[in-house]
Amino acid sequence: MSERIVSQELMKSEDESSLRPASLDEYVGQQGLKDNFRIFIQAAKSRSETLDHVLLYGPPGLGKTTLAYILANEMGSQIRVTSGPSIERTGDLAAILSSLEAGDLLFIDEIHRLPKAVEEVLYPAMEDFCIDIVMGAQASVRSIRIDLPPFTLVGATTRAGDLTSPLRDRFGIVNKLEYYSQDELAQIIRRTSRVLDSPIEEEAVQELAKRSRGTPRIANRLFRRVRDFAQVLNDGQIDQKIAGEALDRLHIDALGLDDVDLRYLKGIIERFKGGPVGLEAIASSISEEPMTLEDVYEPYLLQIGFINRTPRGRVVTPKAYEHLKISYMNDLFTQDTGI
Ligand SMILES: Nc1ncnc2c1ncn2[C@@H]1O[C@H](COP(=O)(O)OP(=O)(O)OP(=O)(O)O)[C@@H](O)[C@H]1O
Ligand SMILES: [Mg+2]
Repeated sequence: MSERIVSQELMKSEDESSLRPASLDEYVGQQGLKDNFRIFIQAAKSRSETLDHVLLYGPPGLGKTTLAYILANEMGSQIRVTSGPSIERTGDLAAILSSLEAGDLLFIDEIHRLPKAVEEVLYPAMEDFCIDIVMGAQASVRSIRIDLPPFTLVGATTRAGDLTSPLRDRFGIVNKLEYYSQDELAQIIRRTSRVLDSPIEEEAVQELAKRSRGTPRIANRLFRRVRDFAQVLNDGQIDQKIAGEALDRLHIDALGLDDVDLRYLKGIIERFKGGPVGLEAIASSISEEPMTLEDVYEPYLLQIGFINRTPRGRVVTPKAYEHLKISYMNDLFTQDTGI
């Protein structure tokens, strides 16, 4: 009985928000972006203005939501949080906007999923801090303009390409989040170990950092899983051996690739002779969603040089063949001769 209460407590304190750094100083990596934000924040504050609207984009788990909260903290602003798919009608957005107070930061996650009509309400809101509300019907239809207090919109998306250009153009600050280096991931893992009060040996830190796909969320997730293995199999001691064993058992390879990455690469090699092949074809051949592959898997494989995107489709590179221990020459041979 008491054990269950304890574990519930642990779950609560261990959700993502508890691991979120709260200030720019604590936010690891993304150095150029942080340096710029320090300037923009200081400048806005010294003019007693709000921060310009901010668009953050990049693969999942790199810290967009975390950064939005940090910007609110650093500006001393109240944050209001919503997301593209949850705002279905223009009235929903009008209600949110008209309840904002001066200086608030409105965070819209997955902003690429705002319906078009809703998006149009945002244009004047962002540009002139006002909204036009249409009242009545048919002959008696009229629109009233409502002024809004100055606010900062922070939008986040994994698919910047899906944003319409009128929306994108209304953000004064547009930033792409980059994958993290091994060293930066190591800093994040050490911080997580401190926050969760679970010591970890340095070799294990490096092992985890190497296998986290450049992604803080994955680093934190792997840390928790490895800690489970250590607790049950190694008296709670998180060393390199238990970390390696745990990650192997989780099917995370030496570069952090998981089963889906491997099926994707091998699928292209075995069924499409290494490419070029279109996203839809490869997705259906391995029974995965094209969008998941495109948003979650491909960006990292591109980053480490395992695939290229060409106008004719995806191509697996020699580097990936080497990692998978599949002979590239053999494949070229079969391709050339058409066997
Ligand atoms: N720069 C960072 N320093 C330390 N921890 C970080 C950093 N960035 C992200 N994290 C950690 O990674 C977790 C995931 O980050 P976050 O939720 O901000 O990602 P995201 O980019 O919003 O992802 P998604 O696209 O899926 O919404 C956070 O809970 C936080 O603990
Ligand atoms: Mg997020």
